[in-house]
This record gives sequence, structure tokens and C-alpha cells, in this order.
Amino acid sequence: MTQDTAKLKVQRGGPAEAPVFEDFEVPYREGMSVLDALIWVRANVDSSLAIRYSCTNANTCKECMVKVEGKTVYACTERLGTTPVTVGPLTNKRLLRDLVTDIVPPKEKLSLLLGQDQD
Ligand code: FES
Repeated sequence: MTQDTAKLKVQRGGPAEAPVFEDFEVPYREGMSVLDALIWVRANVDSSLAIRYSCTNANTCKECMVKVEGKTVYACTERLGTTPVTVGPLTNKRLLRDLVTDIVPPKEKLSLLLGQDQD
């Protein structure tokens, strides 16, 4: 028996680099989320893939926001199928690396609290 796979094209790189897209194939399970697949990639293929999440289930922490097929979604609630999807970082936030962007509201930044300039 062959196992279905989910295919992801994931944007990689930091703010000073031209973005590149890397293809990953993940064992597919019915009902799996984009976050499930990204966590599997980190655990099994490339531990350097930068992702951010906290609660893993449904809009509680809001740290997993990414773009899937150009649409802003929570990676933990966006369901995967067996058709390939493109995953990228939020485009309206400062890119830190791969899928991680700076989502801390400016008023909550430690540098502001310490009286230091923002970058
Ligand atoms: S991981 Fe917390 S909302 Fe998605």
C-alpha cells in the first residue's frame, strides 16, 4: 500500500536574501493541518526550518499565521489536502527568517520599554 503525500512549497530565507522556495513531501493524514506538516518537516527533514507556533490548535495564540496560496491563514487550522500548496511568511510584517515574521506590536517591544530605538 502506498501512502498519500502532501506537497508543500515553502519560502525560505532571511530579510537580506532573495527568497527561495523549497519543496517538501510529507506523509498525509486525513485532517492534518499545514502546521502539522511543517512540524513534521522540522522533525524529519530539516530542523533549520523556522516556524512559530504555541498552542497548535485553533486561533488561541495566533503565532502561526502564514500565507497559504497567498491567503493569510492560521497554519494550525488550515487543512491540507493532497494537492500541492505554497506556504510563505506574512507579507505585511518584517521577515525574520523562513516563515517567521515580527508580529510583536510596536508598543509591546522590549526596546521601546527600555527607551532604545526600534530597528
Ligand atoms: S498555533 Fe496557536 S493559533 Fe495556531
